[in-house]
Amino acid sequence: MQEELKALLQETGADRFFRLQYEECVDSTNEVIKRAAAKGEPEGFLSVAEEQTAGKGRSGRTWISPKAGAVYFSFLLRPEQPPQNAASLTLAAGLSVAQAVREQTGLDAMIKWPNDIVIGHRKICGILTEAGAHAGKIDYLAVGIGINVNNEAFDPSIAEKATSLFIENKGTEVSAAAVVAGSLVHFQKNYEIFRQSGDLSGLMEAYNALLVSRDREVRIEDPAGAYEAVSRRIDANGRLLVERRDGTKSWIDAGEVSVRGLLGYI
Ligand code: BTN
Repeated sequence: MQEELKALLQETGADRFFRLQYEECVDSTNEVIKRAAAKGEPEGFLSVAEEQTAGKGRSGRTWISPKAGAVYFSFLLRPEQPPQNAASLTLAAGLSVAQAVREQTGLDAMIKWPNDIVIGHRKICGILTEAGAHAGKIDYLAVGIGINVNNEAFDPSIAEKATSLFIENKGTEVSAAAVVAGSLVHFQKNYEIFRQSGDLSGLMEAYNALLVSRDREVRIEDPAGAYEAVSRRIDANGRLLVERRDGTKSWIDAGEVSVRGLLGYI
C-alpha cells in the first residue's frame, strides 16, 4: 500500500500539503502526530499505518486495530483558530471520508453525527481528534481516522455494529490507498473552505445531505435525561438541531450527548 499511496498523493497533488510517514505498525497514529507536533513539525504531517498496538477511540475507549484490512491514519493541523473550533474540523474530516468512500466505491456512505461514517446500520470509520492549545489558540490538532477497508470479520465485541467496505462491496477488495488518498484530497478542499470562514458554513449543506439521521427519530442520551426527538441538521458550528414531539427545538453540542437510532446504533 505504501508505494500506491505515495503515487496517488503525488498524482492528486495532495503531497503539496500532506507529508507521508508510512509505518506498518505503530502504537497509535495519533501519538505519532503528537510526538511530531511536540518537535515543532508544521501542519500537513501524515502518519499512516496498517496496524496499531495502542489504538484509541473516543471517550477513552480502545480502538481495536489489528492488521486485518483496516487502515489507520492521522494528520497534523495547526489552524489559527480558538480551541472551540476543533470539533468542527473533525466534522469536516468525517465529511471528507464519506465523500471519498462514495467516490471511490459507489457505496452509500453516510455520516452519523458527529463523526462516524456508516453504511446501512453499521460503522466503517471512526475519527478521534486530539488537540493541544496554548494562550487561547489551538497549538496542534491530531486528526485520527480508522477505516475498515478490507476487513472480513470483526472482534465479537464490535461485530454487531461494524462493517467494512469489502463486506459492503459484496466481497470485492477495495484499495485502501485510494480511500486514504481520496479522503485527504477531499479534506484539503474542505479545510480550505473551512478556513475562509473559520466555521462550517461553507460545508454544512454537503454535510447535511449525508446526515444519516436527517429527519429521522433518534434517542438523545443526555446525561441530564434521555429523550426522543427528530434530528434535523447541523449548523455552522457543528451543533445538531433536534425537535421533540411537543415542537421544542434544541441545538446539541458534539461531545455532550450521544445520539442513537430508536432501534439501535443508527
Ligand atoms: C471512535 O471512537 O469512533 C474514534 C476512533 C478513531 C480511531 C483512529 S485509528 C487512527 C487514529 N489513531 C488512534 O489511536 N485512533 C485514531
